[in-house]
Amino acid sequence: MIKLSKFSSIFVANWKLNGNLSFINQYLDSLKVNPSQLNCVIICPPTIYLNNFNSILKNCYLGSQDISKFESGAYTGEISSKSLNDFGVKFCIVGHSERRQYFNENNNDIKNKASKLIKNNIIPIICIGESLKQKNENKTIEVLSYQINNSIPSESNQHNTIIAYEPIWAIGTGLTPTIDEIENLHYLIRKNNIKIENFKILYGGSVNLQNSREIINLTNVDGALIGGASLKIDEFNQMIA
Ligand code: PGA
Repeated sequence: MIKLSKFSSIFVANWKLNGNLSFINQYLDSLKVNPSQLNCVIICPPTIYLNNFNSILKNCYLGSQDISKFESGAYTGEISSKSLNDFGVKFCIVGHSERRQYFNENNNDIKNKASKLIKNNIIPIICIGESLKQKNENKTIEVLSYQINNSIPSESNQHNTIIAYEPIWAIGTGLTPTIDEIENLHYLIRKNNIKIENFKILYGGSVNLQNSREIINLTNVDGALIGGASLKIDEFNQMIA
């Protein structure tokens, strides 16, 4: 498993359902990752393209956007953690709000997925986040703690699991909490949930070239999960530089 403690910042490019072969070729030609020991850059293309990156990626890691909660068997269309491992995948996003919302994933599914990943030496990036309604009802901390308690498997620790805090209302909207709110929430996430106090905790939701430096430099933020802006290679190069 990759040694997470050596990184000061982690950048995850979540391509979602975007990109094709020619896009990948152009992207890889232009991607500039410093061979720094301090930054960890993880590219998560659609699953079908994972093998196109294998052995080509230099100075960065391959991640998947999702995985089956099952190990093997009669589960048509599923892909197992073990297969990801065969293809050199080191990280996997689980419990993204789009999976929770559009594919009815619940905390238990997410826990099972994370558990299978850890078993196969892949680091799960477990996503948590509140909706706008929950935020407006002042339920953010309660919602996050519930997700943390119910979607993180018991075998998770700071060496084998990453958390990504992504307010649902900030994803793809161009809206973000203020810098102070992000720092405060990350602080509270750690303080209220001793189990994950020392975990790497990333922020996600409308991270872009304008706000990334300030967010990444926050004391309690260990990196960023970047969707839309990670598809713009010039912008992404500048963010990870
Ligand atoms: P965004 O997406 O950066 O486009 O808001 C983030 C995510 O969904 O992980």
